[in-house]
Amino acid sequence: MLAIGCDHGGYALKLEILKYLDEKGIEYNDMGCNGESCDYPDIAHEVCTLIQKGEAEKGILICGTGIGISISANKHKGIRAALCTDEYMAKYTRLHNDANVLCLGGRVIGGGVAVEIVDAFLSTEFEGGRHQRRIDKITELENN
Ligand code: RB5
Repeated sequence: MLAIGCDHGGYALKLEILKYLDEKGIEYNDMGCNGESCDYPDIAHEVCTLIQKGEAEKGILICGTGIGISISANKHKGIRAALCTDEYMAKYTRLHNDANVLCLGGRVIGGGVAVEIVDAFLSTEFEGGRHQRRIDKITELENN
């Protein structure tokens, strides 16, 4: 299960991504917003909480730049949120960082690029090996 959320700055792009997920038959839990003005930390918290509870495996968060919502998501234990602006970043943040939340800027990228990013993020597996050691170090930092 995938959890998805946005603030008002990311709403238009979220609609395009939802259309893509529907076409692909990918199940998701949409945690808002519905276009109304809201605060991105609240939406980040909704999506990250679902992941922390094990009710979603991955998340997608969208705000205007993607920055505020990624900063907010990364304040949550166990969350590795990556702001991506192209497919390469999405692929490598899965391979090397085992990112579990993808962040996008709705005012930065268009729907076509966003869908390529989402596709790479969802279809790439973590490589493990030496990268696991680095993830373990991130977890250590989180626990200190
Ligand atoms: C909202 O206007 C905007 O600040 C927000 O979507 C985001 O870009 C923050 O990082």
